[in-house]
Amino acid sequence: MIIAIDGPAGSGKSTIAKLVASQKGLFYLDTGAMYRMMTLRTLEMCLDIHNNYDVERLIKENTITIEEGGYLLNGCKVGLEIRTPEVDANVSRVSAVKEVREAMVKRQRELSQRSSVILDGRDIGTVVFPNANIKIFLTASVYERAVRRFKEYLEKGVELSLEKIEEEISKRDFQDENREESPLKKADDAILVNTTGKTILEVVDNILEIMENHDG
Ligand code: DC
Repeated sequence: MIIAIDGPAGSGKSTIAKLVASQKGLFYLDTGAMYRMMTLRTLEMCLDIHNNYDVERLIKENTITIEEGGYLLNGCKVGLEIRTPEVDANVSRVSAVKEVREAMVKRQRELSQRSSVILDGRDIGTVVFPNANIKIFLTASVYERAVRRFKEYLEKGVELSLEKIEEEISKRDFQDENREESPLKKADDAILVNTTGKTILEVVDNILEIMENHDG
């Protein structure tokens, strides 16, 4: 069983997918974390994503594995370093590169070879698993998503203005929705869930209900 959760930045995908996974005993794959790891390495290795040789190096010289629910980049566990404003500001650019996407999609399919998986991202229901059993597309207003990100940054000790975050989110939405390679869009057969004004638990319940109805 494959459950695909797609949607824009800050729509609550990862929080919700994680909770559904733990309640239903599913394996959870955060595909955004994979693009974030590639972005971190692009910055650390000072790579130019417009240069084929650099992109080849990025893909060849870096491996992503998962151990006990934690993500390992070249064997080392990654944490908050993939959630910095710098990675946020560069991840759309890196994830728009065709070769990077092809490598990540291949790895996502490999990592999903388990009995029941829930994945969250931008192109899960459209490209990675077009035959997923259940497809959900989460949305929320830009303002609400910016407020959520603002609180997350504060918890990490990062102070950024709400306006700046709103601007950043709108920019990222635009880049994700308008890129040539697998742009962010709702699959025709995905169920739209608007999370604006809803609590996390309400959305989780909504998704559990969709799953129950699907099971029959
Ligand atoms: O979900 P997130 O904010 O951690 O994702 C980070 C970026 O990665 C996002 O700007 C778009 C990209 N991404 C993607 O292109 N495809 C995915 N399946 C997941 C994320």
